[in-house]
Amino acid sequence: MIRPAVVPVLTIDGPSGSGKGTVSRLVAERLGWRLLDSGALYRAVGYAAGAAGLDLSDVEAVTRCAQSTKIRFQPSTDGHDTRVLVNGHDATDELRTETAGAAASAIASIPSVRQSLVDMQLGFRRAPGLVADGRDMGTVIFPDAAHKVFLTASAAERAKRRYKQLKEKGLSVTLSGLQREIEARDARDASRAVAPLKPAADAVLVDTTGMPIDEVVAKVLAVVQS
Ligand code: C5P
Repeated sequence: MIRPAVVPVLTIDGPSGSGKGTVSRLVAERLGWRLLDSGALYRAVGYAAGAAGLDLSDVEAVTRCAQSTKIRFQPSTDGHDTRVLVNGHDATDELRTETAGAAASAIASIPSVRQSLVDMQLGFRRAPGLVADGRDMGTVIFPDAAHKVFLTASAAERAKRRYKQLKEKGLSVTLSGLQREIEARDARDASRAVAPLKPAADAVLVDTTGMPIDEVVAKVLAVVQS
């Protein structure tokens, strides 16, 4: 039996719109490894707390919510997408909005909420390997990962990418509003006391500004193969 500690992990951390989600999915497909979208867990808890009418700054109530929320990832029927079920409800579309991102960022600054999601994240580490996408994958959850990448891009480019993504999903957003929201979310993620958004000391930094996605994928695969 392969012990969890020897299952290889590639961590891909970075701010929103840095390309992490797409790159992680493509790299996981190329390697045949599992994928952990840790942001979806925080979005799911934020969503469940909102659906229950909780005040997102109520530490005890939100922590209880994080502990009891059932989150499941399920391949879509056409096999092209992953659906996220929150307490049995397919919340994938609601979770993609910037409102869900802001709620996730609010509850993600609560240490006991983060703690309640640790075991679930560690459980994704199974053979033949794991690509873990998030903010603290290389620093807190998988500090012993063999391969670590931190993706960045200019704030303007990150906003443009998110704008395109959300527009394609049919959501109504403005570029300037989105850029303000993304900058506020990243500032909160980077300045929080627990598991702040920052590169691990041993991460390879990749600035994806102006870089086509296949080039970023090739760079990340090169990190795994080096
Ligand atoms: O990556 P995504 O945009 O889905 O993440 C939503 C929010 O969840 C982030 O802004 C961050 O506050 C939080 N998050 C986190 N730690 C992670 C992943 C996401 O705090 N590992």
